[in-house]
Amino acid sequence: MTTPSHLPPGPKLRFWQPLAYVRSPYRFLRAVHARYGDPFTVRTNALTVMTADPEGIRQIFTAPAETYHVRLPRSQQRVLGREGLSGLDGEAHRRTRKLISPCFHGESLRGLGGMIHAATVDALAGWRDGEVWQAREAMREIGLEVILKTVFGVEQRERLVMFRAAVLEFAASFGNPAFLLSALLGIERDDWPPNRRLDAARERIAALLQENIAERRATGTQRADILSRLMEARFDDGSGFSDAALVDNLITNLVAGHETSALSLAWAFAWLGRHPEAAERLQQEIGTLSRDDDIAAIQALPYLDAVVKECLRLYPAVPEIVRMLAKPLQLRGYEVPAGVNVAACAAVLHMNPEIYPNPECFYPERFLQRNLSGFEFIPFGGGDRVCIGNHFGIFEVKIVLAVLLSRGRYTLLENRPMRIARRGFLMGPSSVRVRFQRR
Ligand code: HEM
Repeated sequence: MTTPSHLPPGPKLRFWQPLAYVRSPYRFLRAVHARYGDPFTVRTNALTVMTADPEGIRQIFTAPAETYHVRLPRSQQRVLGREGLSGLDGEAHRRTRKLISPCFHGESLRGLGGMIHAATVDALAGWRDGEVWQAREAMREIGLEVILKTVFGVEQRERLVMFRAAVLEFAASFGNPAFLLSALLGIERDDWPPNRRLDAARERIAALLQENIAERRATGTQRADILSRLMEARFDDGSGFSDAALVDNLITNLVAGHETSALSLAWAFAWLGRHPEAAERLQQEIGTLSRDDDIAAIQALPYLDAVVKECLRLYPAVPEIVRMLAKPLQLRGYEVPAGVNVAACAAVLHMNPEIYPNPECFYPERFLQRNLSGFEFIPFGGGDRVCIGNHFGIFEVKIVLAVLLSRGRYTLLENRPMRIARRGFLMGPSSVRVRFQRR
């Protein structure tokens, strides 16, 4: 393999980099970019050439699909399964994506709006007037309810209770530091306790999902949820997904879509609480809705759209969008060889003052003033593997936020500067304590 000297410059000290990255990917990537310029090379868990330049990002996102391949480590397969979309590449990825994609767009999406609204209203009903909550936990609960109803198609109360417990155990197992450390060290043995605990937790969810699938196959029930859509979907040869592929794709969507959306909502409370003028403007806009269950009207609110995008910009949930090279790639004057990773660095791109003047400031208006290309704003990645839930994620966050703001008042109880902390895979605001008051 080509030695790092043929690659763009980057820090030399190997052992420090994974640690600095795990501590704060934003700080680490922004510092390395400032020191070495663009593109730059880092060695975190793998050797990766990164760019935050829109032209470099275009080169990564528009390269032919066969330039890249996916080799999920065993630890990630343990979480996502072998047949989920994010573990596939080449033709298998293209075929599967073509089948799944319509489930998250257009008519299918419209059918899910009412479920998201109902899940939010249910959560609100459980909050006491004056109650203080942590936004990340409160939004995670709503996000989980949304995924269970819209993606897994769970309806009955007892089933919801069973699923909720199983998902929380699963999330605790793969977010457990002992599992994350074993994954980093490549400990793959099935009898290693953190792996065993995770396998058992995943098995419980898989068994519950299998019951849902069997019940639908037996009764022929069709509903508006994603599970039903996936079960109806057909490849060109008339075949559908196997049960194993259905389970792996549902779990992939749970893992990819649950915490990410909840995190965007937590950021919204963190930023709006610190920027009363933006909160006021948003509140006024939401006040123009004649009903908060008018899903189409919510989606059309321009300032709400801008607020959600600004929350996704400042600390993108996925700081860099990585691709593993199966073939060499020309990237901004360098030939990056097969075997090395390339990445579009959202954490740095989203701080570019030429695209985002005063990039550190929370200023949703910037999204009303300028349309950005898919190489300038990349919270959902890009190209053939762009987040399949990108429309769904924004759709959900807007509904939840509109309903919460139209029915409650929220006071942020933090007066320290914003701090960021890791929880499991994702970074987020370290504490967002909020007092809720019913309107
Ligand atoms: C605000 C919320 C979300 C954010 C910020 C987000 C972000 C991302 C990013 C950055 C990627 C990698 C894209 C790439 O490699 O180019 C991704 C992939 C993916 N996301 Fe999301 N996501 C969100 C919500 C969702 C939701 C709601 C779902 C489904 C319910 C979902 C399902 C997926 C899947 C299945 C992939 C893998 C796509 C593939 O490999 O073809 N995401 N997401």
